[in-house]
Amino acid sequence: MANVAAHPLDPVDWPVETERLLLRPATEDDFPAVWAYRRLPEVSRWLGAQPPDFETYADRYRAPERLATQVLVLHSGTIVGDLMVRFEDPWAQAESSEQVRGTLIELGWSFDPAWHGRGLATEAVRAAIGLAFGPLGVRRVVANCFAENEPSWRLMERLGMRREAHNVRDSYHSELGWLDNLTYALLVEEWPTASGRAAT
Ligand SMILES: CC(C)(COP(=O)(O)OP(=O)(O)OC[C@H]1O[C@@H](n2cnc3c(N)ncnc32)[C@H](O)[C@@H]1OP(=O)(O)O)[C@@H](O)C(=O)NCCC(=O)NCCS
Repeated sequence: MANVAAHPLDPVDWPVETERLLLRPATEDDFPAVWAYRRLPEVSRWLGAQPPDFETYADRYRAPERLATQVLVLHSGTIVGDLMVRFEDPWAQAESSEQVRGTLIELGWSFDPAWHGRGLATEAVRAAIGLAFGPLGVRRVVANCFAENEPSWRLMERLGMRREAHNVRDSYHSELGWLDNLTYALLVEEWPTASGRAAT
């Protein structure tokens, strides 16, 4: 069974360094810096919520179960983006539900547009997949996005994630109405050979 400690991301030896980035768990003190880019329409329009102001944002994300899933991404000491790393329970027959609890991680991401287009998000998500299959010990990683969010699904394809579902107009967007949603995934046994593993 996967590691689900008191703080779910405790099994990781933080901070985690990659070639250009440093990853660490978020704290409430980071909220103003994250809000500075999450409030931008080009970022917020693709996220799971579009809080109208900082207080609404902070109230939503300081909830302990949500704060525990947030990982910050820094480049040369500047916060350039954030990741969601959230344990989930895969579907299982009732008799096996305990056995498979916490063996799946869902990933999410948002990056400051000032830092888009340099591969930093790809590098951060690659690291998060490595943590999920490494110290966090899950067997499957999954991520979802609106089909219109091409930068997001291109990122997943760069990392070798497999498009497993294209759901037709199943997801509601506050401004755009019913949209298609894509699910991408990777299994632990695929990661060593997934196309994204070695590439920058
Ligand atoms: C999704 C998101 C993080 C993708 O940002 P991004 O800048 O495209 O991703 P990266 O930082 O990995 O950069 C990749 C781009 O840089 C280029 N690039 C430059 N140097 C690179 C490198 N060393 N490695 C990889 N890509 C590199 C790539 O070619 C790619 O550009 P392309 O798509 O035109 O080919 C960003 O669009 C975002 O934050 N969107 C708003 C929030 C959001 O949508 N969240 C997800 C909700 S599901």
